Amino acid sequence: MTQDPAASSRRSDAPIIEIRGLVNRFGDQLVHDGLDLDVRRGEILGVVGGSGTGKSVLMRSIIGLQKPEAGEINVLGEPMLDRDPDDPALLAVRKRWGILFQSGALFSTLTVSENVQVPLREYYPEMPRQLREEIAAYKILMTGLPDNAGPKFPSELSGGMKKRAGLARALALDPDLLFLDEPTAGLDPIGAAAFDEQTRELQQTLGLTIFLITHDLDTLHAICDRVAVIADHKVIAVGTIDELLALDHPWIQEYFNGPRGRIAHGQSRHPGRPVAGAPA
Ligand SMILES: Nc1ncnc2c1ncn2[C@@H]1O[C@H](COP(=O)(O)OP(=O)(O)OP(=O)(O)O)[C@@H](O)[C@H]1O
Ligand SMILES: [Mg+2]
Repeated sequence: MTQDPAASSRRSDAPIIEIRGLVNRFGDQLVHDGLDLDVRRGEILGVVGGSGTGKSVLMRSIIGLQKPEAGEINVLGEPMLDRDPDDPALLAVRKRWGILFQSGALFSTLTVSENVQVPLREYYPEMPRQLREEIAAYKILMTGLPDNAGPKFPSELSGGMKKRAGLARALALDPDLLFLDEPTAGLDPIGAAAFDEQTRELQQTLGLTIFLITHDLDTLHAICDRVAVIADHKVIAVGTIDELLALDHPWIQEYFNGPRGRIAHGQSRHPGRPVAGAPA
């Protein structure tokens, strides 16, 4: 079979996620109104916006848990909307992503190891139990949880450990694409910094693309390649923090240049790591 190099380079340059004209509404409440966004291959894209601006609804639309009123969503080159949910091409895309929900969403009656095995059971029902357990143990270690975390129940874990367990489950299928909704919310600053480091390391070693919703200015500065800002029912800007700071939008200025933004800009909670955009 002959290969068309131009076509393959077009494919590798194509965004991992492409969203055009997205509209979401709940009753009278308009959440998104013609929202556009591209997520590039291999980047950590931070998604910010005031509470209730529709960050989680955006993520839920991309992963198929929220049916938009209008718009187009392509993930890994595959159109996601108005498809038969059992279409094998959609299933193939779903296998390539991992999700950490805002609520954590661990099953309370399952151990950490069993939680991590849920996607393996779902997508590879024929997989022998021992292999499933080995993969779960490996993912648990990868996320920095101690060896003995596997048999524990979520109620026996700290908030930070629950986040890591959720991350281990999100990594179960060796995804190319990771969705993280507020992964550091509720963690102490040291735990949050450690989680950020882990996210960056996983992204680099596994070549992941990460869609990362966060309110955490330190996370944005420390690990995000670009940041998308949601306001006025749209993505109003996407770029590096420096690029966003050059814009004259009141919410962006208040968010990044307010007292908390300036502190995060000037000093990283990650010792030894240069702060993106900070003066040398
Ligand atoms: N299933 C639903 N039914 C009705 N309204 C909903 C539903 N899901 C979300 N909403 C509403 O849509 C809006 C956007 O919600 P969303 O959860 O996306 O906000 P968010 O930007 O993630 O906020 P936060 O930063 O607080 O997590 C909110 O006003 C919310 O109440
Ligand atoms: Mg949310």
